[in-house]
Amino acid sequence: MSEKLEQMARCPVHEFAPMHPEVLRCPAMLNRRLREEAPVFRDPTTGMFFISRYEDVQAMARDHATFSSAMPAVMSGAVNSGDEELTALMEQGYPNVPTMLTQDPPLQRRYRKFVDGAFSTSSLKRLEPFIEATSHELIDRFIDSGQCEFLGEFGIPLPLTVIGSQLGTPVEDLPRLRKWTEAFVANLGQQLDREGRLKAAKDVVEFQHYFVEKMEERRKVPEDDILSRVVNASIDGEKPLDHAECLSMLSQILVAGNETTAASLTEGIWLLINNPDQYELVRSDPSTEMISRLVEEVLRVSSPSANMFRRTTRDVELHGVTIPENSMCFARFASANQDDGQFEDALRFDIMRENLRDHLAFGKGIHHCLGASLARRELNCGFKAILERMENFRLQPDAHEPQFAPNALLHGLEGLQLAFDIR
Ligand code: HEM
Repeated sequence: MSEKLEQMARCPVHEFAPMHPEVLRCPAMLNRRLREEAPVFRDPTTGMFFISRYEDVQAMARDHATFSSAMPAVMSGAVNSGDEELTALMEQGYPNVPTMLTQDPPLQRRYRKFVDGAFSTSSLKRLEPFIEATSHELIDRFIDSGQCEFLGEFGIPLPLTVIGSQLGTPVEDLPRLRKWTEAFVANLGQQLDREGRLKAAKDVVEFQHYFVEKMEERRKVPEDDILSRVVNASIDGEKPLDHAECLSMLSQILVAGNETTAASLTEGIWLLINNPDQYELVRSDPSTEMISRLVEEVLRVSSPSANMFRRTTRDVELHGVTIPENSMCFARFASANQDDGQFEDALRFDIMRENLRDHLAFGKGIHHCLGASLARRELNCGFKAILERMENFRLQPDAHEPQFAPNALLHGLEGLQLAFDIR
């Protein structure tokens, strides 16, 4: 443990620094102390309230009337910045419309209706052969060398290629899709300097113009993909979504879908390396049931969507603390999934635990992840292909211990220098 973390392990709870980069990289110890000592904690530096216990996070996610998700600025990063150059740049694009993740009912429900069908388990079944084939193609590229940088060569490209195929993006444009996803994620983290904000804004405008063209193509000639369904959906006789609404939905699909799935795939392999007994269980029995157990336990332990914003619509009393109306809060999904009160010995990675499907990695209530079925399919196909073709996973000789990125919202490894044997 680093000196800073050791110091924090001893410090009084009111001196916690939950947004300190070292804590963001490794939040498990802080989460435990918060759950035990301060389940509702006001971070003195940001003024935000952190809700950390399983039952509270679940209740919070279900009570959307009290804990609102309506946050127009979150995805654009430019609102009220007072920066003329930034505003002028954003004006070259389309306005940021709050839709699913950043909206409350009734509008949130309305937007979900347009896309729920496209992401249903039955609609996604037809995607499975493509996900399997993509997993194998990615493995083909590095298998002979016995090593890879797993995040960059498998974790990121798998969900990116799958969603790209559904958004009418040809393979040669996937690096641009990745760049745009990163721009949205950077805006979301809100830790950018001015130069970074200008670059992110430029990328967002480029994304918008690219997809407006694609959307118009799909309006004229629909194809069998998610983009065609989103742009042509007409619900209850309403007119289809306009460009700005569709762009907001697409940006949310990219942000919420790509980095999260990449993080779970990558942490999954790291968990198998660190838990040889669990690896042996799936290696010796790679049945559908065991892979599905592996996926759910990886989701619980990795919880890439670690924290999500909420704003209180009234004063709330919880565990003796008053959270005033209009306060920003964090629903700490990752901490909830580490709660020993819900999962016995919760930090243990155990694919045989009974209640492993009770995790909150996909959230709860009306905002429950739109892409949960897709992500599960990608994780199932991805792990299956890997376990079929590779074994004896380990770090490359001389590789540094992988580190988690210091990001408050999206928790994931910065990379994984993987070595393996061919099966
Ligand atoms: C391992 C992968 C994933 C994880 C852990 C994850 C996690 C989550 C969580 C926790 C939420 C709830 C947020 C809240 O309550 O504020 C959410 C919502 C959402 N997710 Fe996912 N997600 C994943 C994959 C995906 C994929 C593949 C897509 C789409 C391609 C997607 C699209 C969305 C969208 C659009 C929402 C907002 C839904 C709404 O607010 O109505 N996610 N996700």
